[in-house]
This record gives sequence, structure tokens and C-alpha cells, in this order.
Amino acid sequence: MADNQATLTIGDTSYDLPVMKGSEGPDVVDIRKLYGISDHFTFDPGFTSTASCESALTFIDGDKGVLLHRGYSIEELSEKSSFMEVSYLLLNGELPDEKQLKDFSYTISRHTMLHEQLATFYRGFRRDAHPMAIMCGVVGALSAFYHDSTDISDPNHRMISSHRLIAKMPTIAAMAYKYSVGQPFIYPDNSLSYTGNFLRMTFGVPAEPYVVNPVIERALDRIFILHADHEQNASTSTVAGAGSLGTYPFAVISAGFACLWGPAHVGATGAALNMLREIGTPDRIPHYIERAKDKNDPFRLMGFGHRVYKNYDPRATVMQKTVREVLSELKVNDPIFDVALQLEEMALNDPYFIEKKLFPNVDFYSGIILSAIGFPTEMFTVLFALSRTVGWVAQWNEMISDPGQKIGRPRQLYTGPSLRPYPSIAQR
Ligand code: SDX
Repeated sequence: MADNQATLTIGDTSYDLPVMKGSEGPDVVDIRKLYGISDHFTFDPGFTSTASCESALTFIDGDKGVLLHRGYSIEELSEKSSFMEVSYLLLNGELPDEKQLKDFSYTISRHTMLHEQLATFYRGFRRDAHPMAIMCGVVGALSAFYHDSTDISDPNHRMISSHRLIAKMPTIAAMAYKYSVGQPFIYPDNSLSYTGNFLRMTFGVPAEPYVVNPVIERALDRIFILHADHEQNASTSTVAGAGSLGTYPFAVISAGFACLWGPAHVGATGAALNMLREIGTPDRIPHYIERAKDKNDPFRLMGFGHRVYKNYDPRATVMQKTVREVLSELKVNDPIFDVALQLEEMALNDPYFIEKKLFPNVDFYSGIILSAIGFPTEMFTVLFALSRTVGWVAQWNEMISDPGQKIGRPRQLYTGPSLRPYPSIAQR
């Protein structure tokens, strides 16, 4: 049997299936023809053993705790690169030279403003609306404004929409925050960096000048790099599913926002900080660790565990280092950080977490930094989605430009009633 072939035997019939090799990671058994030749589906709810596509953007080795974007490690990118440069890399496949980065940054900066009518759109929300609810609405509403680039089969239209989404996300997010605190919207200032512009739109006020703190700017830019893309995670798969039907890109990204909001996904960022605050002091940690292990208790350690990482999430390592930098810069001595460090230490030495290979993930430390910078908990998922927009649009472009792309339409194992006659109501 060729090493690029698998044989599946069902009953007394064997089926030969091609095995495809990638450049890194596990080989895949190509089952695209399986139903046609065997009249069987495969069954994989949650897709724990299923590759949904080919992609060249991001590689994760969950056992080794490795994360690469177009071959570059997240450790090197978060240390040496910028979010704009990583955005270019994800979209175009190579790191930009100086001119390419300058041109790309300029292009993005030319799209940072929103159509003025969209500002009135916010007025329809309650002031206490969750900012993710506002983001889902406003991002989806962009579909009603940009009719000049709706032909997704045209690479230029796709790139204009991608640039608009990357550029406008900080503006939309900052406006969602401003609306929730009753302060006026701040227009973008394109003399600032992408991240500096976002900080000013969020925390600046018309009554006085706003000076961007370079340490905070660098820390937040690094957080954006850490969140930019992550292979076929749930929200990216949602974007791929919606995009595979030819849906407007703005509506597709709005679907990504809806999925990412879930507490098992990035809703965990705020939940992790709330959990640390609820624990409060190190002496209460053992009680919460016991709760997390108790099958009858729905409580889980938020920011711990991962579908892919069965080792330390490399992003959490960088995040922990960034906590130290930000707290020291802001001269904040947050006892929650000590609780987080001790909780990590105790969990990583507990047989339950060791056996189930549960480690801190990207969400475990990020809330401490974002809270120290001044973001309310509700904004944490918005910040993650702001950054993940570049991964979503890069994956969407890769999918749409794949000539073999098909609509995402899974099948099922049906367990309902077989055909039966319709009874009159008297017979029920
Ligand atoms: C993100 O996919 C991505 O790439 C996502 C993300 C990205 O960049 O896009 O990395 C971002 O979403 C990070 C994950 C943030 N979520 C949380 O931190 C929420 C807490 N974590 C868990 O809910 C859980 O770990 C998941 C959802 C993240 C992963 O769940 P899986 O892979 O489906 O695994 P599972 O839920 O089946 O857990 C395996 C076992 C279970 O025990 P058994 O049923 O086998 O006895 O581990 C246990 C779980 O009960 N377990 C936990 C736990 N996480 C899993 N027990 C206690 N605390 C936890 N946090």
C-alpha cells in the first residue's frame, strides 16, 4: 500500500483513500469521494479530527506549543514586528520591505474614517448595550454602505473590502466604547500609528490633548499581533462557512464577531479576569481548583485549556511578560496578577490538569493588561475581534481565491423518526 494512501474497510469492502501531505503537521486522509464510493459519511462533531481546508497562513503544533504565521514564530513576530507588518504578512504571504510597509500603512490609514451616517446608527442602541452587540450590528451594517466593492470574485474588490475592515475596526470599536460611556466620538488622527490612533479614539476627549504612551502603545500592538490569526478556530470557521456562499465580506466578518463572543471562545478573556477577581486572594485558589475538577460543578478555570494546545499556549507566555511591562510602566501593583501566577503554578502541578494537558491560553493574562490600560471587561472581546479581523479577512481571501473552494455544507447522522403518515388531530 503506497504511503500516500489509506485503506478503509467496511464490512467485506475496502476503499482506498489518498493521503495528502502538508509542509508541516499531520497528513490528512482525503475523504472527499468517500460518500460517493461507500455510501457512508464520517462522523466528527466538533471537528476534533477533521481538516476543513488547506491553508498557508498559520501553523499550530498543539503538542509542542508552536504558533507560526507564514513560517515566522509568534515569539519573534511579537518581539520584532508590528501589527501592521503582521497584517501585511498574513494578507500577502511575505514580510513587507520598507516601501511596501509604508504604502500598506498609508492605504489602511486612508480607510480609518466611517461614513458619517453610521455614527447615527449607534444612537439606536441602548447606552448599556454590550459593545459586542454593537460591533455585530455596525460591522454588518457596513454591507449597506459599500456597494463599490461587492464582487468577491474580483481580487481588487476583495482587497478593498479587506483594507476597509482592518482600517475601520479600531474606529468602530472606539465608538462603541465612547457610546457606552456617553462621551463624544473622536475622529481618527492618521498622524498616529494604527494602535496609537485606536488608543486616542478610545481614551482621548475633545476637551484636552491626548498623548499616546509609547509603552502602552507597544504593549497593545503586541496584543494585537498575538490575536491576529489562529488557524481554523471556531470564529474563523464561521467566517469561512458564511464566506463560502459568496456573502458580502462585511456580513461575513459580522458572523465572526458573533461566534467569537462566546464564553468558550474569546468571551473567556473577560471571564478569566472576573474569575481572578472572584478568587481575590491566593488562599482561595485551592477551593476554585477543586471546583474546576468537580464534574458536578459547571465551573471551569477560564483562560485555561485549549482544543489544540496540549502544551503552554505560546501567546500566553508573551502575554505574561507583557503584564509585567505594563504594570511596571503604569506603576500598578495589581494583586490579581499574583493570584494569576499562583493559580497557574498550582494548576500546572495538579494531576487533573497535568493528565488533561490543561495550560493557560491566550485569554488567561490578557484581561489583567487590558484592565490596567483602562478598558472595561466588556471591551476585551472587542479588542480580540479587532485584531482577529485581519486573520478572518486573510483566511477569507485565501478561501475565495482557491479554485477548488466549495460551499461549507456538512451532512449528519440522522436519528429522527422514519417516514410515517400524518395523523388527524383526533387521532393524536
Ligand atoms: C480561545 O480554537 C482557538 O484557536 C481559540 C483561540 C483563538 O485564538 O482563536 O485560541 C481563542 O478561544 C482560547 C480558549 C478560551 N476559552 C477558555 O479559556 C474557556 C475555558 N476553557 C474550556 O472551556 C476548554 O478548555 C475549551 C473550550 C477551550 C477547549 O475545550 P475542548 O477542547 O472541547 O475540550 P473539552 O472541553 O472536552 O475538555 C477536555 C477535558 C474535559 O474533561 P473530561 O470531560 O474529559 O473529563 O478537560 C476539561 C473538560 O471538563 N477541561 C477543563 C477546562 N478545560 C477543559 N476543566 C477545568 N477547567 C478548564 N478550563
